Amino acid sequence: MRRLKILLIAGARPNFMKVAPIYSEMKRRADEFEPLIVHTGQHYDASMSDAFFNDLGLPEPDIHLGVGSASHAVQTARIMTEFEPVVLEQKPDWVLVVGDVNSTIACALVCAKLGVKVAHVEAGLRSRDRSMPEEINRILTDAISDLLFTTSQDADENLKAEGVSPDKIRFVGNVMIDSLLEHLKLAEDSAIRQQLGVNEGGYGVLTLHRPSNVDDPDVFRGIANALVEIAKKLRIIFPVHPRTRGRIEEFGLADELSRAGVQMIEPLGYLDFIRLYSGARLILTDSGGLQEETTVLGIPCITLRNNTERPVTIELGTNVLVGTDPDKIIRAANDVLEGTGGERQSSIPPLWDGRAASRICDELVQVQ
Ligand code: UD1
Repeated sequence: MRRLKILLIAGARPNFMKVAPIYSEMKRRADEFEPLIVHTGQHYDASMSDAFFNDLGLPEPDIHLGVGSASHAVQTARIMTEFEPVVLEQKPDWVLVVGDVNSTIACALVCAKLGVKVAHVEAGLRSRDRSMPEEINRILTDAISDLLFTTSQDADENLKAEGVSPDKIRFVGNVMIDSLLEHLKLAEDSAIRQQLGVNEGGYGVLTLHRPSNVDDPDVFRGIANALVEIAKKLRIIFPVHPRTRGRIEEFGLADELSRAGVQMIEPLGYLDFIRLYSGARLILTDSGGLQEETTVLGIPCITLRNNTERPVTIELGTNVLVGTDPDKIIRAANDVLEGTGGERQSSIPPLWDGRAASRICDELVQVQ
C-alpha cells in the first residue's frame, strides 16, 4: 500500500498538544503514513512554542512559515500566502488542521481552493457566540473540510444541524486528552510546585487571554476585583499570556493583583503547567482546553465566560460557567472552597481515553 503523505498544521500554543499524538502515531505506523509538521509561526516566543515542542517530544517543524503576529486579516492572509506554495510543492494526500485558531482556517481554505483534501480535528464545537474569532474559524473550517473528526457527540449533532453529510463525520475522541494522559506521569518530575513554594490543594491557578476578557478595561478590572477577593482565601498562581501581559501593564493592574496575592509568572511549558494545575484546589480560566483537561482530572473549573463550545465539560465534567460578573466569580470560588457547591461528581466523556490519534489514523487509511 502507498504511504499517505500528511501535512500536520501547528500554529498556536493550543495546537501543539493536539498535533503531537497524531504525529507520533503516524511515525509509529511509518509503513502507512509520512507525516510532516508545518509550523505557521502564529505563536513564536520560546515560551509559547519551543517549550511545547520540547516537552511534547516533537521534532523541529519540517516547514516553518514564520508569519508572526498581526491583525486577523493580515495574519490569516500571510499564512495562506506562505502555505499555498508548500501544498503545491509537497502534494500531500491529506492536510490535517486542528482546533480553531487563525492557522486552522487559513490552511483549510488554501486546501479547499486547491482541491487538496483537508481534515479538521476537533470539528463541530460551537459556542454560538460569533463575536469570538474562534467561533468564526470553527464554522468556516468545518464548512470546507472533507473529513470532520469530533471529540464529543454534541459536535456531531451541531454539524448535522448545519447540513453536513453524516458520512464526513467521525467521532474519534479527544487528541488533547491523548497528550494529557501520556504526559501526566512525566509531569511528576517537574519541580514547578517546589519552585513556587506551593503544596497540593493549597493554591488556585488562573489563566486569562480571551480578547473579550482582557482587552476591555472595565471587564478586566471587574475580573481583577474578584481575584483580589478570592486571593484573600487562596493563593492564586497566574501564568500570564503575552496578550494579557500587555493589557495588565496598559490598565495598571499589576500592583493591585500582586499585593492581593495573585502571583503573576511567565507562561509555563506543557509539563510544568500540567504539574501546576493538576495540584490546584480550583482553576479559574477562559481557556477552551483547560475546561477539558480539568474534566478529565476532576479538578473544579470555574470558566470566566458566558458560553462554552464544550458543553460536555459541564454535563459530565467539573466545569461551571460564571461569566465575568465579579460577584458570581467570587461566589463560585467560595462554593468550591467551602464545599457548598455540592461536590461535582465528574466522569470522563466517552472516547477521551488516550486513543483518539489511533482512531484518526485508522479512519484516514479507511477513507482511501
Ligand atoms: C490565539 C488564538 C486563540 C488561542 C490562543 C492561545 C486566534 C484567533 N486566536 O490567541 O484561539 O486560544 O492563541 O494562546 O487564532 N504574542 C506574543 N508571542 C507569541 C504570540 C503572540 O507576544 O508567541 C502576542 C502578540 O503581541 C500578539 C498577541 O500576543 O499580538 C496575541 O497573539 P495572537 O496569536 O494574535 O492571538 P492570541 O491571543 O494568542
